[in-house]
Amino acid sequence: MATVVLVGAQWGDEGKGKVTDFLAAKADIVVRYQGGNNAGHTVVVGDEVFRLHLLPSGILYPDKICVIGNGVVIDPAVLLGELDALAARGVPTARLVISERAHLILPYHRYLDELEEDKKGAGKIGTTRRGIGPAYVDKVARVGIRVADLLDPDVLRRKIEQNLAYKNGLFTQVFGAAPLDAAGIIRDFEGYAARLAPYVADTSLLLNEAVDQGRNILFEGAQGTLLDVDHGTYPYVTSSNPTAAAAALGAGIGPTRIDCVVGVVKAYTTRVGEGPFPTELGDAMGERLRERGGEYGTTTGRPRRCGWLDAVIVRYAARINGLDYLAVTKLDVLTGLDTVRICRAYRYRGQLLTEFPARLGVLAEVEPVYDELPGWKEDISGVRRYEDLPVQAQDYLDRLTELTGVSVALVGVGSRREQTLVRRTLFGNP
Ligand code: IMP
Repeated sequence: MATVVLVGAQWGDEGKGKVTDFLAAKADIVVRYQGGNNAGHTVVVGDEVFRLHLLPSGILYPDKICVIGNGVVIDPAVLLGELDALAARGVPTARLVISERAHLILPYHRYLDELEEDKKGAGKIGTTRRGIGPAYVDKVARVGIRVADLLDPDVLRRKIEQNLAYKNGLFTQVFGAAPLDAAGIIRDFEGYAARLAPYVADTSLLLNEAVDQGRNILFEGAQGTLLDVDHGTYPYVTSSNPTAAAAALGAGIGPTRIDCVVGVVKAYTTRVGEGPFPTELGDAMGERLRERGGEYGTTTGRPRRCGWLDAVIVRYAARINGLDYLAVTKLDVLTGLDTVRICRAYRYRGQLLTEFPARLGVLAEVEPVYDELPGWKEDISGVRRYEDLPVQAQDYLDRLTELTGVSVALVGVGSRREQTLVRRTLFGNP
């Protein structure tokens, strides 16, 4: 397998950063293909903790090419901030390549994200307020500004002026807010252009050539299947497609060039932002998962909502993404419980639902139907071979496979690279 796509199988925050970092050891190239700095990937290397929002997690290795594909929306100030922060910690960043077709997040996108969320009040989406949605709206509305435009000062200036004239009308007349100043934005973006230009290339060409040469490429999804604008819990979703098919689109390769798709599943479920969540636990167990799992947003610091593992969701993610394998993370967080639960179906007005519903009203009303399994008490954070996991922990993973039809390739028992158990090698790992 030379090309592996890694996607979140829940609502994001599944631990993709850690799994990417682990698999990246055997990859030549790591690619981000959608989303932007709404993502937050935490990677622990030795005693150091790195929090990445935009850069592919492979950047922490000295020899990987890291690609930001055309499907990503880039806030240049954030990107440069991340590059500077890594450089200050001695991490080399020259191996970054940015697609000239990627779209940019401008200050007016962030401002609009804030204004729209505030105006929606109780009906808000709960976005990360990073301007992601408004940037994708402009892309589809064909008024977006692309990385390629950074390289052409006249085009850049004209587009910013045109867009801001329109957006300022919205800010002042619709939202009653202050307008933004074009001159300051243009000046800042000219500065970003000078610094980012050396990284810009035709990344589709680079990736297709790499596939032809049989190089190992890891496509790192951000967010998760249920935040997908097509397949997620719309409208409580992000504005891109975090699912596997988007890896081809957002990187400029054909779907025939993807060999394997891995779904990252946290051993329980979390969600940030608004929207229904069938297995959510509003009790002491939910609090326990949050505290033991450190379930606070990497990007916004918001406490994450926590609940039991939902196999209806994972089965749905298996279908939407064509999952070949699962990578289960944070299994250690469940240690110490007398029993553990997996939701296998929903009950809705006396009816048993085994498929994930499209209607949010239905999802908000369903009751989870659980399988209850014995828990395990042994500390598993030091386990290094799958066979050494307590039998109850193995049974829990087997039950997930029975309910989803997808086998488990990797298991995480802690935040460090070495706390990863390999059941099936991908890229010849470890
Ligand atoms: P946006 O992507 O900032 O527009 O936010 C839309 C929804 O996606 C909100 O519910 C966010 O909390 C959620 N979201 C966006 N990025 C992530 C992520 O990386 N992890 C988890 N949730 C996310």
